[in-house]
Amino acid sequence: MAATRRDFMMSAAAIGAGYAVLRSNGIGRVLAAAEDVRDVPPEMLAGEESFWFDVQQAFAVDRSVINLNNGGVSPAPRFVLDAARRHFEFANQLPSRNLWTILDPQVETVRKRLARAFNCDAEEMAITRNSSEALEIAILGLDLQPGDEILSTAQDYPRMLNTIKQREQREKIVLKTFDYPTPPPSLEFLVGLFEKNITPRTKVILVSHMTTYTGQVFPVQRISAMARARGIKCIVDGAHAFGQIAFDGGAIGCDFYGTSLHKWLTAPHGTGFLYVRKENITGHWPMMAAPDPKKDDIRKFEEIGTHSDAARLAIAEALVFYEGLGPERKEARLRFLRDRFARRLSANERVTLRTSLDPAQSCALATLNFTDVDRDKLVAHLWNQHKIVVSPISHPGAEGIRVSPNVYTTLGEIDMFCDVIEKVLRDGLPA
Ligand SMILES: Cc1ncc(COP(=O)(O)O)c(C=O)c1O
Repeated sequence: MAATRRDFMMSAAAIGAGYAVLRSNGIGRVLAAAEDVRDVPPEMLAGEESFWFDVQQAFAVDRSVINLNNGGVSPAPRFVLDAARRHFEFANQLPSRNLWTILDPQVETVRKRLARAFNCDAEEMAITRNSSEALEIAILGLDLQPGDEILSTAQDYPRMLNTIKQREQREKIVLKTFDYPTPPPSLEFLVGLFEKNITPRTKVILVSHMTTYTGQVFPVQRISAMARARGIKCIVDGAHAFGQIAFDGGAIGCDFYGTSLHKWLTAPHGTGFLYVRKENITGHWPMMAAPDPKKDDIRKFEEIGTHSDAARLAIAEALVFYEGLGPERKEARLRFLRDRFARRLSANERVTLRTSLDPAQSCALATLNFTDVDRDKLVAHLWNQHKIVVSPISHPGAEGIRVSPNVYTTLGEIDMFCDVIEKVLRDGLPA
């Protein structure tokens, strides 16, 4: 039976003393706090500041700046950084032995943990340095003929579209894109646009699970099913989705899923993964040559030579943090933080939301457009005068500033940002 808000307040008060002893370590605080509220619905917990205070303290971030660009890349909790530092120092003692023969094999445990979190077989999980590497492996490794088409949207990530454009120049593969209004009228509308733009030459669909410019969620399960029914490979760009919204990766039904772990999973920088559906592994070319490129071994996509294991091993700690916090709780909190600034600021008629606030269509990110405030000057003003970081978006039709808080963001920080924006709307930008 779901606990009521009163139950939550009473249990938090009773147990508060208990978890105080764990407060010397960020992760201990978070896990204990999460245990205390295990029956509280995520939407109810989203606004309980006493719970989120413990989560905020797990991050050693610089509070003299306000970072509202966590969509770009995010800080990791202290406990994750500590693990990476330990691995880095251990490897450094005797690299040829500690790095290659002790730490390298431990990556297999991380593979299994990631596969459990995404819900796939560990033999379908390749660990990469980011989404870009993962998705370039997916896009470049497919055998295609001149004239074959790859269908995507004009708002997919530029590097991924450039990867296809490079195939256009080298091999006469054709990139076809369509654009859509932001926000779109519905999820059905987006599926319909993909369906309408398929031609007999379409061999691949590249779709973002959540887009870079406005954080629009695409119904990737339905798009994958539609592609599969037509014999089209479906590559999902999950750079923003994994770790931000709770979902079952195994249920998507796509052929490839690439993500970064240094955005929303808050793993160390330079971490990502590529899921490759089992049936695709053998035929898919690795981007960096492997001894047997047509082997049925997911590790053939990880032939990058000597590299640090510190970041990739500490993915394990980032997963412990995420799972201990609870994916549904994190998602609800992120949406709560986003709604706080998006609803307040969009009450002003000179502010337009490029992002739908429908929970099925978005989560942590919102892009705000201002009718009569210069975007680039506003971004500069936010940083120069207020040390607030947001991301400028210039895609035609989606222009604005993208604002993306994270679980360590405080309500006070969001309110300070809103105060500054309202002052600019009232008084204009300083000359
Ligand atoms: C949708 C999307 N795909 C791919 C990427 C590339 O991510 P990375 O730089 O971590 O490889 C980004 C980065 O912002 C993104 O927003």
